[in-house]
Amino acid sequence: MAGRFITLEGGEGSGKSTQARLLADRLRGAGQTVVLTREPGGTPGAESVRALLVNGDTDRWSPWAEACLVNAARADHVERVIRPALARGHWVICDRFVDSTRAYQGAGKGLDDADLCSLHEKVTGDLWPDLTLVFILEPAQGLARAGARGATEARFEGHDAGFHERVSAFFAGLSRLHPVRCHSIAADRPVETIAAEIAALVGA
Ligand code: TMP
Repeated sequence: MAGRFITLEGGEGSGKSTQARLLADRLRGAGQTVVLTREPGGTPGAESVRALLVNGDTDRWSPWAEACLVNAARADHVERVIRPALARGHWVICDRFVDSTRAYQGAGKGLDDADLCSLHEKVTGDLWPDLTLVFILEPAQGLARAGARGATEARFEGHDAGFHERVSAFFAGLSRLHPVRCHSIAADRPVETIAAEIAALVGA
């Protein structure tokens, strides 16, 4: 089985990080080499940029400053981790990627989707996932889950309800926009049920 690039996307508290771990465990159990990583982050430099993005006041950055920061982190991550792993035939499972930029900085903060996709093309050499799992959950439910976790990196959680509604609506429409690459996952179900659906989708 050749490695594939899989991303998990969705709003706050949608359970995607748990499912990313379970999928990585399952593939490793089947003898595959898997890089489990996240954005913003995944390299020392990108993790430093993450700290700038996820902490502090909600209005700390303008929308374009934020988009440039996530793309700076992504450029480093793609060049140093994701592309080398894929070139070796390994699997890469990434918790958030370009669709989060389109959802948060695009739909959420009003930047143009075509502009963001063109920036992504330049920054990553036009790297897109083979498969994107989009976790669908009512924003209020996700924020309650994330709040219950006592999240420390809570800058985005502090954005207003309208912001989270726009992010959620973007994710809800993503599988229609990219029917081959993206697959919606109903996230309000038991962890094991979702994990089994994902394993079947991936063929793991
Ligand atoms: P996490 O909560 O899934 O760890 O992600 C950290 C936050 O970063 C999350 O609130 C969404 C935000 N984010 C963006 O705003 N744009 C992006 O491109 C990415 C990857 C994340």
